This record gives sequence, structure tokens and C-alpha cells, in this order.
Amino acid sequence: MPSDARAKSAASGDLLEQVMDVLRRYVSSTTASSAVVMARRRTSSASERLDRAQLREILPSIDRSLRLFMADPKRVDECIKALEVLSCSKAEGGPSSTIVAVKVEQDVVRVRNEARELAVALGFSLTGRTRLATAVSELARNIVQYAGEGEIELKAVIPSGLEVTARDRGPGILNLDEIMTGNYRSKLGMGLGLRGVKQLADAFEVNTGAGKGTTVTFVLRVQ
Ligand SMILES: Nc1ncnc2c1ncn2[C@@H]1O[C@H](COP(=O)(O)OP(=O)(O)OP(=O)(O)O)[C@@H](O)[C@H]1O
Ligand SMILES: [Mg+2]
Repeated sequence: MPSDARAKSAASGDLLEQVMDVLRRYVSSTTASSAVVMARRRTSSASERLDRAQLREILPSIDRSLRLFMADPKRVDECIKALEVLSCSKAEGGPSSTIVAVKVEQDVVRVRNEARELAVALGFSLTGRTRLATAVSELARNIVQYAGEGEIELKAVIPSGLEVTARDRGPGILNLDEIMTGNYRSKLGMGLGLRGVKQLADAFEVNTGAGKGTTVTFVLRVQ
């Protein structure tokens, strides 16, 4: 498919083309096509278009085909995971997001690992994964340090990236403007956490106030 046509199909959310894009990261185009064609023949999904339920149905068959072509089973798992992410869209009622409760330092590690795994599945580069892990850790650590407890939601925004929301019902941030302009000196850390996340992210928003807790949302494009 020419690249302008591919861009158009990605923009219109053509799932089959997104599946092919993921597969082509792991195997040749020819192998990718034959894995999909074979899987669709084995199941009932023979129509032109592919929907998410059909993708879930053909995943085991694609898995089997990939294991024939790829030597490293870990890479097959990674690829299947990426396809699983594609098969779960909120629009169609699938479990599109992961929520991790955050209370103690160990949870910071847990949520960072979850974010890394999702980033691999979405095709983030090593740099992208590191950025994401850093930003997620900052927000998780803020929850532990200042709010006591809260949660972080990781949501795949297909095909573009990942949306992260950190929520808590802690005391809120009363001097957000001062913090975001860089004039604030933190008692516990270097006071660069929130500003750092903003710099790393493609979109960033904080909703906070006394009595309503803090919600920080950021988006990172696949990079
Ligand atoms: N979830 C939160 N609830 C309440 N206050 C918060 C929360 N997150 C941040 N803050 C307040 O905002 C300040 C700035 O946070 P930021 O993460 O930018 O820096 P820091 O945590 O002080 O230091 P660093 O993250 O660089 O170690 C904190 O010192 C804290 O007072
Ligand atoms: Mg911090």
C-alpha cells in the first residue's frame, strides 16, 4: 500500500491496516499477510473489514503462525501483546485501560513496569519507553509522598500513543502556578517533577485544588 493510503487508513482507524503495521515490525510484509490470511480462513471472519472481536478470535491462529516464522518466542509474545492492545478498544467496550493503585514505594515500581509493558506493546522505542517510565514514576511518587494514596490509569490511545492519568484525593496543590513557573523550592525533592513531566509529554494537564485532590493527565505519542 502506498504511504499516503496507509496514512489515510490509520487516520480512519482501519484495524486491519493497524494489525499489518504491528506485524510488519516483527516479520516481513509477505509473512504478515499470510499469517492474517491463514488465520482468517481458519475462522469465520472472511469479510473485507476486520473488527476488534474478529481480531480477538484470530489471535491464537496468528500466534501459531508467528511461532513458525520467528525464532525468539519472547518476540512473538511481544507482538501478540501489541495485537491484544489493538483488539481492546474502549469504543467497543473492551478493557482499554489499566488502573494501578498507588500507595507505597513498591507500587511506583509496579506502575512503572506496567507502563513499560504497554509501551512495548504499542511500539514505543527505548527512548520513548524511558520517557514514559520516568514521567509515570514522578507522578506515582508524588502520590505516595504527598497524597498518601491514589491510582494511575494507563490508557492506550490507538494508534497514536498512551494517555496517563494520576488521581488522588489528597490535599491538592495550592501553589500550582508557582511550581509550574519553576520558582518553587521543594522540601522533599528537587521540585522538578511536575515540570519535568510537562516537558516530556505531548499534552499535559493538572486539575487540583484544596478539598478536591489532584488529577494529572498527560499523553505521550508513540516515539
Ligand atoms: N499529588 C499531589 N498532592 C499534593 N501535593 C502535590 C502532589 N504532587 C505534587 N505536589 C506538591 O507539588 C510540589 C511539586 O511537585 P514536584 O513533583 O514538581 O516536585 P517535588 O515532588 O517537590 O520534587 P521532585 O519530584 O523533583 O523530587 C511538591 O513539593 C508538593 O508540595
Ligand atoms: Mg515529585
